[in-house]
Amino acid sequence: SSEKPWGGRFSEPTDAFVERFTASIGFDQRLYHHDITGSIAHATMLARVGVLTDEECDQIIEGLKAVRADIEAGDFDWSVSLEDVHMNIEAKLTERIGITGKKLHTGRSRNDQIATDIRLYLRDEIDTIHEELLRLRRGLVDLAEREADTIMPGFTHLQTAQPVTFGHHLLAWYEMLARDTERLLDCRRRVNVMPLGAAALAGTTYPIDRSITADLLGFERPSDNSLDSVSDRDFAIEFTSFASLLMTHLSRFSEELVLWTSAQFDFIDLPDRFCTGSSIMPQKKNPDVPELVRGKVGRVNGHLISLLTLMKSQPLAYNKDNQEDKEPLFDTVDTVKGSLRAYADMVPAIEAKAENMRHAAKQGFSTATDLADYLVRQGVAFRDAHEIVGKAVAYGIEQDKDLSDMTLDELTPFSDAIGEDVFDVLTLEGSVEARNHRGGTAPSQVRAAARRARQAMGD
Ligand code: ARG
Repeated sequence: SSEKPWGGRFSEPTDAFVERFTASIGFDQRLYHHDITGSIAHATMLARVGVLTDEECDQIIEGLKAVRADIEAGDFDWSVSLEDVHMNIEAKLTERIGITGKKLHTGRSRNDQIATDIRLYLRDEIDTIHEELLRLRRGLVDLAEREADTIMPGFTHLQTAQPVTFGHHLLAWYEMLARDTERLLDCRRRVNVMPLGAAALAGTTYPIDRSITADLLGFERPSDNSLDSVSDRDFAIEFTSFASLLMTHLSRFSEELVLWTSAQFDFIDLPDRFCTGSSIMPQKKNPDVPELVRGKVGRVNGHLISLLTLMKSQPLAYNKDNQEDKEPLFDTVDTVKGSLRAYADMVPAIEAKAENMRHAAKQGFSTATDLADYLVRQGVAFRDAHEIVGKAVAYGIEQDKDLSDMTLDELTPFSDAIGEDVFDVLTLEGSVEARNHRGGTAPSQVRAAARRARQAMGD
């Protein structure tokens, strides 16, 4: 069909289904803003090196801005027969400003154009995601500081292990997110390289100056190999792998929140605004937000595998396969932003039920290790201490009594090394206070860790 920008060599119109099948406009119109930003920079560069006149450049820029305003006003008919966002915008530009519009694509291909668009888009999204991550991290640190003295059971194998402070547990989540942030920012460095100028695959014969375009678009530098520039999607895979790991972390938090809100744990309360009810069971309050976030990791992991598989075995340079990068990437961005937003809003509203946590920490002999450590300090070898305390625990199970509730007379038969001062270490407070080193669960260490976290976030 002669209305296609590439129609010159074709003798029959595109099959109607093939036209729909190959079009990307349904999803890549999301890139309109960055596509126009890239085109404005490209035109500006072309004028500076003398490929376009200043008048032509001004006309093109005016035209592109008008097209952008049309799109934002909802006054733009995206056409499937124009295939993608690039040709839709270019056609509209030419419709508006006439023949000069046809000069915009000089020294450029859709191959370097789309690679540039995605990078500009993703860079902005990364910055937004970084902000949301910071908001969530701050929420965790604030809550951790508030709950620095709150004692809960710590678990291994989901069996009561040793008492920890709730603040310490929350800061474990914080650590995961701090690493996620590093991965995100590291990925950004490789996103922020400019493919424009690679043209279709080999570069262009025009006297372009890629450093001008790179500066205008805020890229760190132009890319170094034109073949790689139009075909590289590593950055999208890196971003999605960041996202996969982040969502994995959120799913772990979610699992704990779901457990903790259950009647059986009853460690925390989530405000009603983050929960939903049941259409049949009147008593229900379901932790939908954590559950949904826990579930959403599935689609992101799927997108990571999609992208890896998409790139596998692709010969250089650009292939149409690459059009399939957008939907997984966009959905990953949307999922991460939504999940982070929900969590950043919800975390500060978590209410700890300190009494219930404390009660749970007293079950399950959580201070048994403290008693063993006490015996070691009295000169008993650790293995022997382990055995002695094991027997005391067996007695406690039989009598339904925690170690801290036993009398000295009940304890001394297990070892004559036990004295009155044993009760200092058998209490929950004594146990957490004693783990007083960097990375330990003592309240003062939680406060120190919170201060370090604030510093790391530049607060
Ligand atoms: N819609 C294409 C994509 O998403 C844009 C680049 C197309 N280039 C081409 N020569 N067909 O990758």
